[in-house]
Amino acid sequence: MSETYSFTVNGVLRETAEDKPLLRYLRDDLRLTSCKDGCSEGACGTCTIAADGKAVRACILTTKKAAGKNILTVEGLSVAEKEAFVYAFGKVGAVQCGFCIPGMVMAGKALLDATPNPTEGEIKKAIRGNVCRCTGYKKIIEGISLAGPSCGARWKSTPIWKGGIPLAWATGPSAPTCAPRCWAMDSTPTTYTWTAWFTLPPSARSTPGRGC
Ligand code: FES
Ligand code: FES
Repeated sequence: MSETYSFTVNGVLRETAEDKPLLRYLRDDLRLTSCKDGCSEGACGTCTIAADGKAVRACILTTKKAAGKNILTVEGLSVAEKEAFVYAFGKVGAVQCGFCIPGMVMAGKALLDATPNPTEGEIKKAIRGNVCRCTGYKKIIEGISLAGPSCGARWKSTPIWKGGIPLAWATGPSAPTCAPRCWAMDSTPTTYTWTAWFTLPPSARSTPGRGC
Protein backbone atom coordinates (compact mmCIF):
# COMPACT_ATOMS: atom_id res chain seq x y z
CA MET A 1 0.00 0.00 0.00
CA SER A 2 1.43 3.39 -0.91
CA GLU A 3 2.26 5.91 1.79
CA THR A 4 0.27 9.12 2.11
CA TYR A 5 1.44 12.34 3.68
CA SER A 6 -1.03 14.53 5.52
CA PHE A 7 -0.66 18.05 6.84
CA THR A 8 -2.82 21.12 7.18
CA VAL A 9 -2.55 23.98 4.73
CA ASN A 10 -4.19 27.20 5.85
CA GLY A 11 -6.32 25.30 8.34
CA VAL A 12 -7.52 22.60 5.92
CA LEU A 13 -6.34 19.00 6.24
CA ARG A 14 -4.63 17.85 3.04
CA GLU A 15 -3.35 14.46 1.96
CA THR A 16 -1.14 13.41 -0.89
CA ALA A 17 0.60 10.24 -1.96
CA GLU A 18 3.18 12.18 -3.96
CA ASP A 19 6.54 13.01 -2.43
CA LYS A 20 7.55 16.24 -4.14
CA PRO A 21 8.65 19.77 -3.27
CA LEU A 22 6.00 21.42 -1.12
CA LEU A 23 6.26 24.49 -3.34
CA ARG A 24 5.07 22.48 -6.36
CA TYR A 25 2.26 20.94 -4.31
CA LEU A 26 1.09 24.34 -3.06
CA ARG A 27 1.27 26.01 -6.46
CA ASP A 28 0.25 23.20 -8.82
CA ASP A 29 -2.17 21.15 -6.74
CA LEU A 30 -3.69 23.78 -4.44
CA ARG A 31 -3.18 26.82 -6.70
CA LEU A 32 -1.73 28.84 -3.83
CA THR A 33 0.23 31.13 -6.09
CA SER A 34 1.46 33.50 -3.40
CA CYS A 35 4.33 31.01 -3.07
CA LYS A 36 6.70 32.20 -5.78
CA ASP A 37 9.29 30.04 -7.48
CA GLY A 38 12.32 32.25 -7.82
CA CYS A 39 15.08 29.63 -7.92
CA SER A 40 13.68 26.19 -6.94
CA GLU A 41 16.80 25.53 -4.92
CA GLY A 42 16.53 27.32 -1.60
CA ALA A 43 18.53 30.40 -2.52
CA CYS A 44 16.07 33.29 -2.90
CA GLY A 45 13.33 33.00 -0.25
CA THR A 46 10.46 33.93 -2.59
CA CYS A 47 8.73 30.65 -1.66
CA THR A 48 8.85 31.31 2.09
CA ILE A 49 5.90 29.91 4.04
CA ALA A 50 5.37 29.14 7.71
CA ALA A 51 5.56 25.53 8.91
CA ASP A 52 4.51 25.13 12.53
CA GLY A 53 5.08 28.87 12.90
CA LYS A 54 8.62 28.91 11.52
CA ALA A 55 9.59 30.51 8.23
CA VAL A 56 10.80 27.85 5.80
CA ARG A 57 11.48 27.67 2.09
CA ALA A 58 8.78 25.59 0.44
CA CYS A 59 11.01 24.58 -2.47
CA ILE A 60 13.32 22.56 -0.25
CA LEU A 61 10.64 21.15 2.06
CA THR A 62 8.97 18.07 0.61
CA THR A 63 5.42 16.84 1.09
CA LYS A 64 6.90 13.85 2.90
CA LYS A 65 8.84 16.03 5.33
CA ALA A 66 5.81 18.32 5.77
CA ALA A 67 3.71 15.44 7.13
CA GLY A 68 2.07 16.39 10.41
CA LYS A 69 2.92 20.08 10.11
CA ASN A 70 0.70 23.14 9.99
CA ILE A 71 1.50 25.00 6.80
CA LEU A 72 0.54 28.63 6.36
CA THR A 73 0.77 30.74 3.22
CA VAL A 74 -0.18 34.36 2.60
CA GLU A 75 -3.61 33.15 1.47
CA GLY A 76 -4.15 31.75 4.98
CA LEU A 77 -3.40 34.93 6.87
CA SER A 78 -6.42 36.35 8.62
CA VAL A 79 -8.21 39.31 7.11
CA ALA A 80 -6.76 41.55 9.78
CA GLU A 81 -3.22 40.29 9.25
CA LYS A 82 -3.52 40.89 5.51
CA GLU A 83 -4.83 44.36 6.18
CA ALA A 84 -1.96 45.09 8.56
CA PHE A 85 0.66 44.08 5.99
CA VAL A 86 -1.11 45.80 3.09
CA TYR A 87 -1.36 48.99 5.10
CA ALA A 88 2.20 48.86 6.45
CA PHE A 89 3.92 47.95 3.18
CA GLY A 90 1.82 50.48 1.28
CA LYS A 91 2.40 53.22 3.82
CA VAL A 92 6.20 53.01 3.60
CA GLY A 93 6.30 52.20 -0.13
CA ALA A 94 7.89 48.78 0.35
CA VAL A 95 6.60 47.19 -2.85
CA GLN A 96 7.97 47.53 -6.36
CA CYS A 97 7.43 44.50 -8.61
CA GLY A 98 6.06 42.55 -5.65
CA PHE A 99 7.59 39.20 -6.54
CA CYS A 100 9.49 38.85 -3.28
CA ILE A 101 6.76 40.31 -1.09
CA PRO A 102 4.76 37.17 -0.16
CA GLY A 103 7.99 35.58 1.05
CA MET A 104 8.93 38.74 2.93
CA VAL A 105 5.48 38.85 4.53
CA MET A 106 5.70 35.24 5.69
CA ALA A 107 9.19 35.78 7.07
CA GLY A 108 7.81 38.88 8.81
CA LYS A 109 4.75 37.04 10.08
CA ALA A 110 6.88 34.26 11.63
CA LEU A 111 9.04 36.90 13.29
CA LEU A 112 6.10 38.98 14.55
CA ASP A 113 4.38 35.92 16.01
CA ALA A 114 7.39 35.41 18.25
CA THR A 115 8.52 39.03 18.58
CA PRO A 116 5.70 41.57 18.08
CA ASN A 117 8.00 44.54 18.44
CA PRO A 118 11.24 43.50 16.76
CA THR A 119 14.39 45.55 16.45
CA GLU A 120 15.76 46.46 13.04
CA GLY A 121 18.49 43.89 13.59
CA GLU A 122 15.92 41.16 14.29
CA ILE A 123 14.00 42.04 11.14
CA LYS A 124 17.19 42.01 9.06
CA LYS A 125 18.03 38.59 10.46
CA ALA A 126 14.51 37.28 9.75
CA ILE A 127 14.67 38.27 6.07
CA ARG A 128 18.34 37.53 5.49
CA GLY A 129 17.44 34.62 3.20
CA ASN A 130 14.93 36.66 1.18
CA VAL A 131 16.26 38.29 -1.96
CA CYS A 132 14.66 41.40 -3.45
CA ARG A 133 15.80 42.45 -6.89
CA CYS A 134 14.04 45.82 -6.74
CA THR A 135 14.50 47.55 -3.41
CA GLY A 136 17.32 48.24 -1.02
CA TYR A 137 15.46 46.32 1.73
CA LYS A 138 15.14 49.45 3.88
CA LYS A 139 11.46 49.97 3.13
CA ILE A 140 10.65 46.29 3.55
CA ILE A 141 12.28 46.40 6.98
CA GLU A 142 10.20 49.50 7.79
CA GLY A 143 7.05 47.74 6.54
CA ILE A 144 7.55 44.72 8.79
CA SER A 145 8.36 47.03 11.65
CA LEU A 146 5.16 49.00 11.10
CA ALA A 147 2.98 45.88 10.75
CA GLY A 148 3.90 44.45 14.12
CA PRO A 149 4.05 46.60 17.20
CA SER A 150 0.84 48.62 17.08
CA CYS A 151 -1.27 45.48 17.31
CA GLY A 152 1.12 43.19 19.11
CA ALA A 153 -1.65 41.23 20.81
CA ARG A 154 -2.87 39.99 17.47
CA TRP A 155 0.25 38.11 16.72
CA LYS A 156 0.10 35.91 19.77
CA SER A 157 -3.52 34.83 19.47
CA THR A 158 -5.19 31.85 17.90
CA PRO A 159 -6.92 32.23 14.53
CA ILE A 160 -10.66 31.73 14.36
CA TRP A 161 -11.41 29.63 11.30
CA LYS A 162 -14.83 29.90 9.71
CA GLY A 163 -15.32 27.68 6.68
CA GLY A 164 -11.59 27.59 6.08
CA ILE A 165 -11.32 31.39 6.21
CA PRO A 166 -9.43 33.01 9.06
CA LEU A 167 -11.60 35.93 10.14
CA ALA A 168 -9.86 37.02 13.29
CA TRP A 169 -7.42 35.53 15.64
CA ALA A 170 -7.92 37.00 19.02
CA THR A 171 -10.03 35.09 21.49
CA GLY A 172 -9.81 34.66 25.23
CA PRO A 173 -10.42 36.53 28.44
CA SER A 174 -8.70 39.72 27.37
CA ALA A 175 -8.98 42.01 24.41
CA PRO A 176 -6.19 42.84 22.01
CA THR A 177 -4.26 45.85 23.26
CA CYS A 178 -5.50 47.99 20.40
CA ALA A 179 -9.20 47.39 21.10
CA PRO A 180 -11.53 49.16 20.79
CA ARG A 181 -9.64 51.36 18.37
CA CYS A 182 -9.72 48.90 15.52
CA TRP A 183 -11.49 45.91 16.93
CA ALA A 184 -15.07 45.34 17.98
CA MET A 185 -16.35 42.66 20.31
CA ASP A 186 -18.94 40.37 18.76
CA SER A 187 -22.57 40.18 19.80
CA THR A 188 -21.90 37.51 22.39
CA PRO A 189 -19.57 39.24 24.83
CA THR A 190 -19.23 36.19 27.03
CA THR A 191 -17.21 34.45 24.35
CA TYR A 192 -14.71 37.30 24.29
CA THR A 193 -14.32 36.85 20.60
CA TRP A 194 -12.92 39.88 18.87
CA THR A 195 -13.28 40.71 15.24
CA ALA A 196 -11.27 43.14 13.22
CA TRP A 197 -13.44 46.16 12.57
CA PHE A 198 -13.03 45.98 8.83
CA THR A 199 -14.77 42.58 8.76
CA LEU A 200 -17.87 44.18 10.30
CA PRO A 201 -20.56 46.37 8.76
CA PRO A 202 -19.85 50.11 9.29
CA SER A 203 -22.63 50.41 11.87
CA ALA A 204 -20.92 47.82 14.05
CA ARG A 205 -17.47 49.35 13.92
CA SER A 206 -16.19 50.93 17.07
CA THR A 207 -13.96 53.35 15.20
CA PRO A 208 -14.20 53.96 11.48
CA GLY A 209 -10.49 54.32 11.04
CA ARG A 210 -7.45 52.32 10.23
CA GLY A 211 -5.54 53.00 13.39
CA CYS A 212 -3.06 50.18 13.14
S1 FES B 1 12.18 29.35 -4.81
FE1 FES B 1 12.54 28.60 -2.83
S2 FES B 1 14.27 29.69 -2.12
FE2 FES B 1 14.04 30.33 -4.20
S1 FES C 1 9.81 44.20 -4.88
FE1 FES C 1 10.55 43.31 -6.73
S2 FES C 1 11.72 41.60 -6.06
FE2 FES C 1 11.25 42.66 -4.25
